[in-house]
Amino acid sequence: MRKDKPSRTAYKVGVNIVSLGSKPGMEKILPAGIVEATEKILVAAGAASETVVRVARSQWAVSLYEWFDWMMPGQFEAFAHRKAFCEHQVREVIRAGAGQVLVLGAGYDTLGWRLAPEFPGVDFFEIDHPATAVRKAKGVAALGGRDNLYLIGEDLGQRKMVDVLEAHRKWDKSAATVIVAEGLLMYLSAAAVRDLFLQAAAITGPGSRIVFTYTATGADGRPDAGKWTGLVLWILKSSREPWLSSIRPEELPGFLAETGWTYLPETQGTGRHGVEYFGVATR
Ligand SMILES: C[S@@+](CC[C@H](N)C(=O)[O-])C[C@H]1O[C@@H](n2cnc3c(N)ncnc32)[C@H](O)[C@@H]1O
Repeated sequence: MRKDKPSRTAYKVGVNIVSLGSKPGMEKILPAGIVEATEKILVAAGAASETVVRVARSQWAVSLYEWFDWMMPGQFEAFAHRKAFCEHQVREVIRAGAGQVLVLGAGYDTLGWRLAPEFPGVDFFEIDHPATAVRKAKGVAALGGRDNLYLIGEDLGQRKMVDVLEAHRKWDKSAATVIVAEGLLMYLSAAAVRDLFLQAAAITGPGSRIVFTYTATGADGRPDAGKWTGLVLWILKSSREPWLSSIRPEELPGFLAETGWTYLPETQGTGRHGVEYFGVATR
């Protein structure tokens, strides 16, 4: 992961969400308000120009993304399902009494920014690499910050999440918390992923949930992105955001148990979407 520049993959997810807003049928899947909020954050952060956003909204861009599905089948629409899955989980756990939401590797995700005013009694935290977090913070400030949204710039490969959050004046490690790790785990080493789940258990109270997406390990031991895995992995490596880890879905329950979590396999939406899998666990 390059340290000096804002994340390209976070930018791509944001632009994808804008394009999905123009794809017929996606309005039934995408969370309400996400497309407009993503457009605003991308522009206010200086991550994308008004022109890029206008082009992303066009049917031409939708067709282009659909065409690219030859390389990662189903991945374009999967971003809509991913956002819907994570937000549904967050809302459900807030309804059940969670007092904190933590979005890891947040990129230009707008969940915290949209939900913070709706749930003033809940504290929303985001952590991302400093280069991306600083840019996002600029956008959030320009659009109007939220009193209960805290953006933290840290490289989780350099500093432990436990240390980052324990040093934060608002973090309550005994509170029921929802942690979202969307499109993040594959960019961390296997050891860092294990450590992240262990730390997540250590900094959250009973009733917490972790919502995550991951890539499955293929028969050859590499992260499986389908038929064109070699090409996909090469592109990601060339853009200096390589996928570093994956797990076999059948090994997930055991991995979660070892790290202090209980897998919730029956949860609606878990399983494969595009080249990713969605998962959720509780403690
Ligand atoms: C594919 S993007 C996903 C962004 C967002 N979760 C979404 O789905 O819209 C991956 C994000 O993880 C962040 N990230 C990757 N490695 C990280 C690390 N070591 N520490 C903090 N953030 C990291 C990147 O900066 C980027 O914003």
